[in-house]
Amino acid sequence: MTKLKTHLFICSNGPDRAEKCGGKNSEELRQKLKALCKTESFAGEIRVNSAGCLGQCEHGIASVFYPQAEWNLNLKSTDVDFMMKKIRKNIEQ
Ligand code: FES
Repeated sequence: MTKLKTHLFICSNGPDRAEKCGGKNSEELRQKLKALCKTESFAGEIRVNSAGCLGQCEHGIASVFYPQAEWNLNLKSTDVDFMMKKIRKNIEQ
């Protein structure tokens, strides 16, 4: 069984509120990352899950990797390449 190396949580709170992560299309970012990860050799080593409010609403879209405790804030739904680089880094650690 493949060991999970990192778990990415992306806030999906407030899809109907423009100032919240969900209102900034965080779910679109999550779905893109999830789909891309499924095509990679490390597919079984990562989970990309939605999270409730991470307490960083003013810096949304907010995300955090566990167990690395690495935050990535102020993301846009188009930050797919940026986040894929972060994912690869956390897988290779
Ligand atoms: S709504 Fe995303 S961190 Fe609060």
